[in-house]
Amino acid sequence: MGCEVCKPVLLADLGNPDARLRPFETVSKVLKDMSPQDVVGAIVESGLRGRGGAGFPTGVKWQIVAAEDSEEKYIVANGAEGEPGCFKDRLLMRELPHQLVAGMIIAAYAVGASKGYVYIHHEAQDCMDAVQGAIDDARRLGCLGGNVGGIGFSFDLQVHVAGIGYVAGEETAVLQFIEGKPPKPRAKPPYPTTHGLWGKPTLVNNIETLSNVLVIMRDGVEFFKSLGTPDTTGTILVSLNGVKKPGVYEVPAGVTLRDVIYKCGGGPLGKIRGVIPGGYASAFLSPDDLDVTLEFGAMKTKGSHLGAANIHVFDESQCMVEATRKFMRFFAAETCGQCFPCRKGTRDFLQMTLEVERCQAPADWESGIKAVFDLTGRKTICGLDKAAGGVMRSAMKLFADEFHEHIKHSNCCHVCNGNSGEMPDVKEARG
Ligand SMILES: Cc1cc2nc3c(=O)[nH]c(=O)nc-3n(C[C@H](O)[C@H](O)[C@H](O)COP(=O)(O)O)c2cc1C
Ligand code: SF4
Repeated sequence: MGCEVCKPVLLADLGNPDARLRPFETVSKVLKDMSPQDVVGAIVESGLRGRGGAGFPTGVKWQIVAAEDSEEKYIVANGAEGEPGCFKDRLLMRELPHQLVAGMIIAAYAVGASKGYVYIHHEAQDCMDAVQGAIDDARRLGCLGGNVGGIGFSFDLQVHVAGIGYVAGEETAVLQFIEGKPPKPRAKPPYPTTHGLWGKPTLVNNIETLSNVLVIMRDGVEFFKSLGTPDTTGTILVSLNGVKKPGVYEVPAGVTLRDVIYKCGGGPLGKIRGVIPGGYASAFLSPDDLDVTLEFGAMKTKGSHLGAANIHVFDESQCMVEATRKFMRFFAAETCGQCFPCRKGTRDFLQMTLEVERCQAPADWESGIKAVFDLTGRKTICGLDKAAGGVMRSAMKLFADEFHEHIKHSNCCHVCNGNSGEMPDVKEARG
């Protein structure tokens, strides 16, 4: 999909069968002309930041794995993509799998990995088939297997079906699942870069991150940097929801949220009430914040996150208490239950939002919710409860009127008017 703001780079060859095998030409060139150290240096210089959510500098991660002295190293492409509304990794895997596989081969060469896994959402059979086809092509062309490029570099790759659930996409849960254990996060440190699969150094990167590696190697570091801003180089694939033309769009980092919503998405469905710019682990932005740019740093200064650029626009037709409750239901359903603050806190957030939604909030609701924020402020393994707290806190601030109407006046707000759609019973939420 395209508009005046879009800049197809990762998606440049979408629908072009003639370009299918071209990424392997870049692989051959890199293996011939560059040392592993040169490749790591180029990724550092490119400023690429991870597209899986945290925006961690990719080059720094690669340097750590490359520096580890180990006979066995692994690389994992994280395509779990379990967040509702996020579809960009599936687009890349289904439509441009050769670009991903080529990026992984280059990454493996750079850090010294001999085995890789592409971890794909369990329902995305089309992606598994496409990636497997690209792996087969790479093997046929001598880009996978033993002595790749005639330089003694050996690397092989296989598809791995992801564990079920949102948390199964957290990097240590990914490792656990590939090792044959339940897909639950494990405590960090140690980090996967030094103690990953079977205790060996492992590079875990997102599908979009690894696809960008091919772009950097093919088009050059300077070209990649020229696409975005010093804070966030390159393009960003956004998954845009709640607009007239929802879908996945590729834009240069640094464009405004307003341009993405209005120019790419054709505008909101009604007057905007709030925007979630970076998926379930970000926080609501107000309609006054639409000029914020799509950069990791800029989003942070607004108290939110760019995350995996999973954008959700909420308009005036929606009761924002109900919308918040739906987020809380997601977190309460997805917690893996290992950490007490998360197991209890996500459930309490849901129960307390339900009470507000149903105009059944007790008089001491405010002190109750403060206690939940205190509980979820404690240390947990992967911080899912912090993500729930971030959405909850921003909703209470931004939609304070609606929360107050529901709490103080025992009255549903002007939007839902006592009819905010399907509502499970509070007891049901308590479980
Ligand atoms: C609960 C949770 C779910 C996550 N799900 C995904 C996911 O589906 N895909 C992904 O790439 N990263 C996901 N992440 C982030 C990964 O842990 C990890 O940071 C990422 O794969 C690293 O790749 P990057 O540096 O290229 O962004 C998730 C993190 C958390 C805490
Ligand atoms: S924070 Fe929540 S989801 Fe993450 S490991 Fe702990 S209990 Fe599981």
